[in-house]
Amino acid sequence: MPTNDRTTKTLAQLGVDSPEKVVSDFKRLREEFDTHNSNMSRVRVGGSNQWVTEFNSWDALRLDWIGRKWGILSQITDNWLKPAPPELKRVVGQELNQLKAHVEATLEERRKQIDAAAEQSTPAREKIDLSLPGIQRPIGTRHLVRQTYEELFRIFLSIGFSVVEGPEIETPYYNFEALNIPEHHPARDNMDTFYIAGSRSPHLLRTHTSPMQIRTMEKQPPPVRIVVPGKVYRRDNPDATHGYMFHQIEGLAVDTDITFCDFKGTVDHFAREFLGPKTKTRLRPSYFPFTEPSAEVDATCHMCGGSGCRVCKQSGWIELFGAGMVNPAVYGFVNYDPQRLSGFAFGMGVDRLAMLKYGVTEVPLLFQNDVRFLRQFP
Ligand code: PHE
Repeated sequence: MPTNDRTTKTLAQLGVDSPEKVVSDFKRLREEFDTHNSNMSRVRVGGSNQWVTEFNSWDALRLDWIGRKWGILSQITDNWLKPAPPELKRVVGQELNQLKAHVEATLEERRKQIDAAAEQSTPAREKIDLSLPGIQRPIGTRHLVRQTYEELFRIFLSIGFSVVEGPEIETPYYNFEALNIPEHHPARDNMDTFYIAGSRSPHLLRTHTSPMQIRTMEKQPPPVRIVVPGKVYRRDNPDATHGYMFHQIEGLAVDTDITFCDFKGTVDHFAREFLGPKTKTRLRPSYFPFTEPSAEVDATCHMCGGSGCRVCKQSGWIELFGAGMVNPAVYGFVNYDPQRLSGFAFGMGVDRLAMLKYGVTEVPLLFQNDVRFLRQFP
C-alpha cells in the first residue's frame, strides 16, 4: 500500500516542508481511506455467515488504519508527528486529529450497519425471546414397584421396624443351610437357581431375602425388628405371572416375648393399612423350613370385599404372602438362645402386592418400561 510506504518515512525524508504540503498529504490519505471503505464488500442482508464476512473485512480495514501497532495513524504519529520540525508540528497534529476522527466515525457507522443487517436477517428461531415460557423437560415418576416399596416402608417403619439391605449374590450357607434347608432337602427344589461359575466357593443369586435374617442376627443381639427390600432370582419360565427376577420384602421380629398374637396382629395391621381398613386376614397352614408353624396369609379381596369376583377367582380371598414363627432351629445358626427368644418372619412378593393393589394383570408390564404403562402410576 503506497500510503504505508509514505508513512514509514519522516516528513523531512518525504520533502514535505510546508503546512500546505502537510494538508495535501492528509487530504490524499483521507481519500485513500474513503476508497478503501467504499471498496469494502457491501453490507448485504444475509445469515450469520454473511455477518462474519462483513465483520472480517470491516475489522481488516480497522486494523489497517487504527490498529495500535501497525495502523496507518500510529505510523503517522511516530514518523510524521513526533519528529516534525516545530513549525509543522501544529498543522500535523491538527490534520492527524481530523483524519482520526473521520476514520473512527466512519468505522463506527459502518459497524452499526453491519450489526443492523445481521439482526434483521437472523432467522426468528435464532433470536431469544425472554418473555416466552422455558422448555419444560418431563420429569420421570417413581416406578410402581418403587411406590409400593415406599408404601410398605411407611407401614413398617411406623410400627418400629427398620430397613436393611443385603447382597444379591449369596453363599449357599446363608441362602439355604442357615435357614434350616440342608442340601438335598426338597424345599430347595423350587428355589434351585442361578449359580455363579468360576468362583472357588460356590455362590448363587439369592432366591429370597431370607438370608438377611441370618446376616442380621449374626451381627446384632436381640431385639431385632427389620424389613429387607430387594431383588431375588429363581429359575422360572417367564409368563404372565412369573419372571426370573422379582422383588421381595422380608420381615423379621425377634425378642424375648413375641407371641403368635403379635404375629397375627402385625399381619392384620399390615393388611388394613395396605388394602383398606375393612380388610380381614386368615392364616392357612403352610411349610417353610425356617418357620414353625408356617402360614400363608390371605386377605379378604379388596375388590369385592369378600363376596367373590374375577380378581379373587370367586373365592373372596386373595393370597398375600408366606410367614410364620421363627423356627428355633434357626437360632442355633446365629447363637441366639432358643429358650429365651421367639419371633416371627414373613416374606412378601412386592410385584405381586403391587399388581393386586393396582389391578395389573401381567408381570412383564412392570419391567418393559413402556411409558404408556408407567404414566398410569404418576
Ligand atoms: N422366603 C420365603 C420365600 O421366598 C418366604 C418366607 C419368608 C416365608 C419368611 C416365611 C418367612 O418363599
